[in-house]
Amino acid sequence: MNYSSLADRIADRSARVAIIGQGYVGLPLAVEFARAGFAVTGVDNDLDRVGALQAGQSCTPDLENEDLRALIRAGRYEATTDFAVLERTDVVIICVPTPLRKSKDPDISYIVAAGSEVAARYHPGQLVVLESTTYPETTEELLLPIFRQRGATVGEDFFLAFSPERIDPANPSFKVSDIPKVVGGVTPACTRLAAALYGQIVPRVYQVSSPKVAELAKLYENVFRNVNIALANEFALMCRRLGVSTKEVIDAAATKPFGFMPFYPGPGIGGHCIPVDPLYLSWRPCPPMWSR
Ligand SMILES: NC(=O)c1ccc[n+]([C@@H]2O[C@H](COP(=O)([O-])OP(=O)(O)OC[C@H]3O[C@@H](n4cnc5c(N)ncnc54)[C@H](O)[C@@H]3O)[C@@H](O)[C@H]2O)c1
Repeated sequence: MNYSSLADRIADRSARVAIIGQGYVGLPLAVEFARAGFAVTGVDNDLDRVGALQAGQSCTPDLENEDLRALIRAGRYEATTDFAVLERTDVVIICVPTPLRKSKDPDISYIVAAGSEVAARYHPGQLVVLESTTYPETTEELLLPIFRQRGATVGEDFFLAFSPERIDPANPSFKVSDIPKVVGGVTPACTRLAAALYGQIVPRVYQVSSPKVAELAKLYENVFRNVNIALANEFALMCRRLGVSTKEVIDAAATKPFGFMPFYPGPGIGGHCIPVDPLYLSWRPCPPMWSR
């Protein structure tokens, strides 16, 4: 009953969507759902940011002010600091920050805070998706218990999934609507509903067997980039000493049609994802290799 009515509302785009966190990830995602015809509310606890968004001022290079204003005028996007809106939404997507603490441990307090706000307003038939990059098992170990405390049964009363964000801000070739999504739900029904939701805005949805697989896939993608950026920079030092052009060497290697992807030297890793995410992976205590 909960499943089929939500599936119907997703399919006909009458489901009300709330996106918590209106930064580089949450705002473009909100706008993509709004463009697809959903009524979307962006929820953020930063009063200044919400004020700017309500006035039609974008805070990301991926969105022009005029496009945002058109969606506000059409009644398909609004921003608020008031979490009470979650009482009326069918879908909640969490896109809050996941920085490191001074100790280099993951700071998952933002996820806990947002998850608690959602669970406090939980009502049967809701789909909740976490998009923030985080350590493996966050969805089931951290979020699921918060909802269980409210008496909610996952896969029946409500649906919970993880779907990593892959946006590359200011990349004109790949915007939200161009990038395939990976989804892993706590139950098969959760996966199907999350896949149906994202299928409304992206060209391809890849379903995996659990949130943990989806969480790990994101960390693997970013660790892959981190390692290859470091390699390109180390390689550049060697090329300079040998008196050859690094670019010429990499371009030559890139003619190999398999098993190679070119990365070029640059100022190094930056931002709040690529240098941070390897620590999210290493933080997770793993059983010894021989016990798996
Ligand atoms: N920026 C990227 O390129 C990128 C790409 C992929 C994944 N990610 C991941 O996505 C997540 C979000 O990143 P971002 O770049 O959008 O961060 P951001 O700092 O740009 O935006 C986060 C927003 O969440 C709001 N917020 C924080 N706590 C909140 C709460 N409890 N309730 C409501 N709002 C809250 C903040 O005010 C801010 O507006 C992180 O886990 C990040 O690692 C980021």
